[in-house]
Amino acid sequence: MAKAARLGLIETGRGTPLLCIHGFPLDRRLWRRQLERLGDIRRVLAPDLRGRGPSRERFETGWSLDDHADDLAALLAELREPVVDLAGVSMGGYVAFALLRRHPERVRSLILIDTKASADNAEGKAAREASAAAVREKGVAVLVEQMLPKLITPGASAAVRAAVQEMIEDTPRETAARDLLAMRDRPDSTPMLGEIRVPTLVIHGSDDALMPIDGARAMAAAIGGAKFVAIPGAGHLPMLEAPDEFNAALRGFLRR
Ligand code: MLT
Repeated sequence: MAKAARLGLIETGRGTPLLCIHGFPLDRRLWRRQLERLGDIRRVLAPDLRGRGPSRERFETGWSLDDHADDLAALLAELREPVVDLAGVSMGGYVAFALLRRHPERVRSLILIDTKASADNAEGKAAREASAAAVREKGVAVLVEQMLPKLITPGASAAVRAAVQEMIEDTPRETAARDLLAMRDRPDSTPMLGEIRVPTLVIHGSDDALMPIDGARAMAAAIGGAKFVAIPGAGHLPMLEAPDEFNAALRGFLRR
């Protein structure tokens, strides 16, 4: 196992843990509305993935999404929480697949949010490399320009826009570049969909501009017994753009 990172963490609540994995290029603050409102039914854990917050300066080399998954498994061991409900959005969903592959005994249920199982194709890999090079050269302003309009809908509130922009701007450029290369190298998780045996919820913003909703419907259909919930009018980050609908979907699933 990779040496564990000391990850930043925000947590609230008590009981069975809900581990929430953020997307790219974001951090633990993405889950603020879930931390505020789901603590009555779960111990909500929102860690940073490595390279952000307290662990921002610790790594001399790049990493893989498997390293992110192993960091989270190590964090759970430290917290003495052997088994969790696991939620991941976008890149966090890719990390959730890695955790399920590498540490299946830790996952009691799975919540896949605005994510996909497939790997990057050749064109996608080339785009990751170009983005990583641009970020290293010019900084994360490149990501604000390219990604912010795709992460949220044009109708998102000024507060949501500012929160997302702040997270992007606080991501160290080298961390963003390494995550891009880690996403480039992720395996195809499609073959494992039919083998997922834990209760699964797939949630997707109906207006996600980065990942069309039809792909998420197909992913849900490939997982035995998975439930699918669309969040009307929300983009790629429904936990921020439509927290009430999002939390209601989560609550319904977690209380099943
Ligand atoms: C994310 O939102 O985590 C990323 O945009 C996912 C990706 O680029 O594949």
